[in-house]
Amino acid sequence: MKQDMIVILDLGSTENAALARAVRKLGVYSEVHPHDISAEELEKLPNVKGVILNGGENRVVDGVPVEISPKLYECGFPMMAVDHPTARCEKRLEAMPDQAALQEFVFEACRAQANWNMKNFIADQVEQIRAQVGDKKVLLALSGGVDSSVVAAMLIKAIGGQLTCVHVNHGLMRKNESESVVEVFQNQLHANLVYVDATERFLGKLAGVPDPEQKRKIIGGEFIRVFEEEARKLKGIEFLGQGTIYPDIIESGTKTAKMVKSHHNVGGLPEDLQFELVEPLKQLFKDEVRACGLELGLPASMVYRQPFPGPGLGVRCLGAITRDRLEAVRESDAILREEFARAGLDKKVWQYFTVVPDFKSVGVKNNARCFEYMVIVRAINTVDAMTASIEKVDWDVLERVTQRILAEVGNVNRVCYDMSPKPPATIEFE
Ligand code: XMP
Repeated sequence: MKQDMIVILDLGSTENAALARAVRKLGVYSEVHPHDISAEELEKLPNVKGVILNGGENRVVDGVPVEISPKLYECGFPMMAVDHPTARCEKRLEAMPDQAALQEFVFEACRAQANWNMKNFIADQVEQIRAQVGDKKVLLALSGGVDSSVVAAMLIKAIGGQLTCVHVNHGLMRKNESESVVEVFQNQLHANLVYVDATERFLGKLAGVPDPEQKRKIIGGEFIRVFEEEARKLKGIEFLGQGTIYPDIIESGTKTAKMVKSHHNVGGLPEDLQFELVEPLKQLFKDEVRACGLELGLPASMVYRQPFPGPGLGVRCLGAITRDRLEAVRESDAILREEFARAGLDKKVWQYFTVVPDFKSVGVKNNARCFEYMVIVRAINTVDAMTASIEKVDWDVLERVTQRILAEVGNVNRVCYDMSPKPPATIEFE
């Protein structure tokens, strides 16, 4: 690690992530560690220049008052204590040390250098990955989402041909999504890519299943099985790449080491498939992951892709999935994305998609009665996906979307706009 580091010790603050981000904004790398870190552990961390004790109101972690080991004071690092008042959401900034105090501590007391940037980060990670992996092989489940794509690009840069990516197309991907994974990773970045078209297998298992939770379980379970089958075909793999990012590790609030470890499981893989994990993004916040992806040469469309649920279009083709309605979801989603991009809304709106319910309504086409499906358009904004408000989309844009869906998507005679905030509605319908 070449970058200087400021260590934040979590003494029960809800503002650890915000403080780490504030230090990184100054161009200095920062990590959050649990309050019970030992002096030996602290001294082993690379390039530590100073320590911030980040306390809550009463310095409480999981209901128990905490203090750090007195030995930490003997390590000789400059220290600063921040004891926030209990932070209310809207007062976040007031609960942070002021910018001038932070700057003075980081640059004057600690003499840290502002050398945290993506180029240095990537160079560091490439070195660390090579040291960890040696000449062994790494497997990566490449969904095409932001995190797995950036991990793939990083691993290709570090170890090239020692990486095998497996992309499982469950038949519930958006239009052209699997194709773009193949184009970018196989054709442009020359990765070893195993592309598995498991569409028939997934749709077969899902046929006639209307219950949302059961659908999710089938998709998640089948995904693990397909990935496992591919993993068993490959010989000599010892490592598994994972797109774990920093918020997965610290979340907000008072996570102790115990919680940190629970994130390090290989979710769902059978016990006899044991891999060591390679997690090169585990220190990055989401916006840093995107910057890293761009620096590694991934296309902006991949790096700024909106969130897409693991079960894919399966939870947007409501009730028991049928091929005609799945096609209607995929085609209408593609039209919505095109029109939002044309109107500049793709950079403004957090998430937008279409849904097709499993009932029909009466309409009239070519002077004759028709009985066809409807498409529901949803566009929302949110900070953390826990609550959401609708985007007040311009009528002209909605009309253009509607006209195109009615003209271009088969078996559809009606388009509706979902006006519901979360809560009480969730963002997805299932
Ligand atoms: P809800 O519907 O719970 O969705 O309001 C909140 C956010 O999470 C996304 N979502 C998922 N993401 N796997 C994911 O990776 C999933 O199974 C999943 N289900 C929902 C959803 O798209 C929204 O952004």
